Amino acid sequence: MSLTVVILAAGQGTRMKSELAKVLHPLAGQPLVMYGLQTASEITGELPVLVIGHGGDEVREAVGDAARYVEQAEQLGTGHAVGQCRTLLEGQSDLIIVCYADMPLLRASTLQALAEAQRAHHGPFTMLTVESEKPRGFGRIVRGEDGALRAIVEEAVASEEQLRIREVNLGVYCFDAAWLWANLDRIPLSPKGEYYLTDMAGLAVGDGDSVKTLALDDPGEALGINTRVHLSEAEAVLRRRINEKWMLAGVTLVDPATTYIDAAATLGPDTVVLPNTHIWGQTTIGRDCRIGPNSILRDSTVGDRCEIEASVVEEAALESDVDVGPFAHLRRGAYLESGVHMGNFGEVKNARLRQGVKMGHFSYIGDADIGEEVNIGAGTITCNYDGVRKNKTTIGAGTFIGSDTLLVAPLTLGRNARTGAGAVVTKDVPDDSLAVGMPARIRKLSPPKDQDA
Ligand code: UD1
Ligand code: CA
Repeated sequence: MSLTVVILAAGQGTRMKSELAKVLHPLAGQPLVMYGLQTASEITGELPVLVIGHGGDEVREAVGDAARYVEQAEQLGTGHAVGQCRTLLEGQSDLIIVCYADMPLLRASTLQALAEAQRAHHGPFTMLTVESEKPRGFGRIVRGEDGALRAIVEEAVASEEQLRIREVNLGVYCFDAAWLWANLDRIPLSPKGEYYLTDMAGLAVGDGDSVKTLALDDPGEALGINTRVHLSEAEAVLRRRINEKWMLAGVTLVDPATTYIDAAATLGPDTVVLPNTHIWGQTTIGRDCRIGPNSILRDSTVGDRCEIEASVVEEAALESDVDVGPFAHLRRGAYLESGVHMGNFGEVKNARLRQGVKMGHFSYIGDADIGEEVNIGAGTITCNYDGVRKNKTTIGAGTFIGSDTLLVAPLTLGRNARTGAGAVVTKDVPDDSLAVGMPARIRKLSPPKDQDA
């Protein structure tokens, strides 16, 4: 039986109090909406359908070709939102799962179980419920004497007695598609002027059909994000899940409570992550590395056996056996080949440091190609910017840059060359040559004058 997943994301998310559409708020480094889409793609080959409205253009831009889009121009409720998909989907699949984009923690295995339950069920749909101590904002599951589901009652219209019900609607349903399209237009207008998808339960039961419920085992999946408080709670649940996944895959996290790994990052076995370390975006780390403490890595690639201590690495790449820090800053386009040593207070941007380069102390290397085994003395600066253009510095293999050298780009230094301490190098230096500049002059000090004279 073919299955399509529809994800509703047109609402404004008023309770977030944000200019940004709710579903674009980041969670573990990616927009909230991506979680539902990824889960959907794990259970069906059909591209999920995303219903967009508020901030629709931004959502489209963020999601790209990971979804098919349906516009809901006016947000007239969850039932109305599903109705907008009729033209695209009617007659296209046997089963339709509808879920809400603000439920990012649902697992693919849960959606799979929901679809299987509906396949085995002869009624019009199956839905997920959970027992919750804090049913805040959720629709309540009302059951009859016989225990069968009677209706879903939204909090806004629930009676005192209904508000005490702990079993709630998660907003995840698997419908028989033909039944859905035949009955969707029967949803009555609510007192708030919306068409609630939840009313489909009462309609089915009124027709004598049975609605099946599937209870969630792990309440951690049930978090719906309506406010930024919920956002932080979801972040905590997700972080714990991600951390556990990597620990079970052979990564040591010395203090998971202060280790922040984004959903898209990957780590190799026997790597050790020390406290207060942030591994963001599309970062890939190899095996046997030591990362942290106090480090931030963003969208970077790190090979095997690297050490990064108290440093910031952004859009950079390290081959294997590289050590960085403490207090180093690698920026976009920094590429450190194997065996590079970069000590404290160094900054590298858009530059390649070839095998075995040593750069021990406070230096800036930008827009440069540094040859194998070059030694960069303390305080070396590539003066790459002339106020208009960024200019390149090239240094040949084996060259020794003396402390406090200023390399005024564009500039090329040959192989096995040398610069004296404090040299201001403005002309190219051939192979096997020495560049020296501005030596200090020595003068005799005159004796101090007698102040009382
Ligand atoms: C909804 C359910 C509630 C359930 C809860 C679970 C309804 C009427 N209520 O309430 O029973 O317990 O989710 O989280 O369904 N949306 C649209 N178009 C609209 C309105 C909403 O696309 O016109 C989208 C929103 O962007 C959101 C989702 O539908 O992603 C749910 O809307 P929301 O307003 O958050 O519903 P809840 O009040 O949480
Ligand atoms: Ca919600």
